[in-house]
Amino acid sequence: EQIEKGGYEHFMLKEIYEQPNAITDTYRGRMLVNEGIIRMAGVDDNIERISKAKRILIVACGTSWHAGLVAEYIFEDLARIPVEVEYASEFRYRNPVINENDVVIAISQSGETADTMAAIKLAKEKGAFVFGVCNVVGSSISRETHAGAYTHAGPEIGVASTKAFTTQITVLTLMALKLAKHRGTISDTDFRHHLQQLEAIPAKIAKVLETTNEHIKDIAFKYKEATNCLYLGRGYNFPVALEGALKLKEISYIHAEGYPAAEMKHGPIALIDEQMPVVVIATKMGHYDKVVSNIQEIKSRKGKIIGIVTEGDEEVRDIADYVIEIPDTIESLTPLLTTIPMQLLSYHIAVMLGKNVDQPRNLAKSVTVE
Ligand code: G6P
Repeated sequence: EQIEKGGYEHFMLKEIYEQPNAITDTYRGRMLVNEGIIRMAGVDDNIERISKAKRILIVACGTSWHAGLVAEYIFEDLARIPVEVEYASEFRYRNPVINENDVVIAISQSGETADTMAAIKLAKEKGAFVFGVCNVVGSSISRETHAGAYTHAGPEIGVASTKAFTTQITVLTLMALKLAKHRGTISDTDFRHHLQQLEAIPAKIAKVLETTNEHIKDIAFKYKEATNCLYLGRGYNFPVALEGALKLKEISYIHAEGYPAAEMKHGPIALIDEQMPVVVIATKMGHYDKVVSNIQEIKSRKGKIIGIVTEGDEEVRDIADYVIEIPDTIESLTPLLTTIPMQLLSYHIAVMLGKNVDQPRNLAKSVTVE
């Protein structure tokens, strides 16, 4: 097992550090940057069917559901197709309105999750076209779907999902770009710009890992005794806030909640006091000023602020207790970078608390029963 961990103390840490290579493996051979082309057999072979969808429904569970939420922003933004994201366990039992004009995307690392499988079967019965995004090659879900794309992240052993999440987002970004090009909802220049920016992501993740890990250990040490933690983000980074909170809950057993930053005032703000660490994703993007004012509201209630910001940011640095810098990229790709410090933060807190990081209590890597 030590050999399999490749010198890392835990599988989770190894898998966090594998992300630059995993993402490169995901887009290798699919994204031809110089030619300005995306090739994905499962999409290419069904391009008319998929791009004429009246609606895309995404079904998944856990972390894969969070990847689906990020994809909702990407698909609607770039390809202009309405998207709904559902927990597979809810979808399968609520007599959903779905027909042959719908495309269902099922996302599953293991390709074995029982609820996701049942949702796929139901969608097929109703005539929808079902596309799978799986990591495990030959898995049940990859065989049950009409077409699909593998994430090629390599085996993920740690129960808390890391590289599966970022590679799912990568595949879904490629798919959205491909559909956008086919539907004419993106300009050639913009399309090429996205490809170049995506190609640059693995090196940027490597930089985040290299430059933030030690600093994040200090932050983890400072807040490891917290009993509650709040994660906030807006737009593309709202699902990342949910995922950050899930990571902390899963492996450190600290109660954490992810929220859209602006919704804080409708509830969680009541919980904020000097004991409450609040992780806020505040990268330079569309909603930056609004997030800064959310941070000020936390500050005035004495909450402890950990800001995830774009390199060179001064404004949040002045208000926050800690900042973690990530390189600049286009807004739709920020989740691939903002996720990394959150994975490291939960990892270090769990290690410091002496928890079983790779096999947290009560959780399974793959949930094959209801
Ligand atoms: C379990 C795992 C999670 C995973 C979820 C969905 O709860 O512990 O890490 O996100 O199942 O699994 P899937 O294999 O369908 O992505």
